[in-house]
Amino acid sequence: MKKYLLAIIGGVSLVAAISFLLNISTRPIAAQVKPSTAVFESDGKLKLPTGYRAWVFVGAPLTPDGLNNGKAGFPEYHNVYIEKHNVDAYLKTGSFPEGTVIVKEMTRVVKPTFPDGSRTEPSGRGYFNGEYNGMDVTVKDSKRFAQTNNWGFFNFGHHAWPLEESSKEASVSECAGCHIANVAKTDMTWVQFYPLLRNRENDAPGQKGY
Ligand code: HEC
Repeated sequence: MKKYLLAIIGGVSLVAAISFLLNISTRPIAAQVKPSTAVFESDGKLKLPTGYRAWVFVGAPLTPDGLNNGKAGFPEYHNVYIEKHNVDAYLKTGSFPEGTVIVKEMTRVVKPTFPDGSRTEPSGRGYFNGEYNGMDVTVKDSKRFAQTNNWGFFNFGHHAWPLEESSKEASVSECAGCHIANVAKTDMTWVQFYPLLRNRENDAPGQKGY
């Protein structure tokens, strides 16, 4: 009788072990994607992202103070970074995965000598990346930010470092409204200003991909 019981127990645990292993290998891909790099505090504030300067640099729109009545809304270079696995997914599918973080780090232009904010360097007259000067961040999370097309907007200050260590979600009028009005069709992101993303379907040689 004892032997019989042991055999049953052994059989049951074998089945359990096999189904556990099978479950791991057949688990849907979605559950295996890398965790979001967005770190939220318990009150919903987003922590200042770190390490982003090593992500993929997709572009740098420029709105110098000198061309914006001395005070651009977003000073002045906007260096935009996205993690590589999220860029890869965008290039494949045309939309960003859940958990995508986009960092727009602002820098000033180097000391202007002309009223338009430009200066002359050996390469010519123009604009050059100056000091770091603040950060805006968007995070894709369809549960937290369903109200604003699945993206949350955060401003860590438009000034020199140190920046705010955490930021609460910005209001629709401050941020999301303008993105919703203009770029809802391209996953709330101005891909038209980033050649790598914009040329996703471009077949011209050298234009598409990395
Ligand atoms: C009046 C319109 C407008 C408002 C308001 C606005 N943005 Fe944007 N945002 C833009 C434009 C245009 C770009 C791309 C060109 C550029 O950076 O100049 C952009 C780019 C971005 C990017 C880079 C990724 C992308 O979508 O291209 C982030 C991140 C971002 N904005 C966050 C914010 C945050 C956070 C706020 C609020 C503090 C905000 N934006 C408010 C117009 C706006």
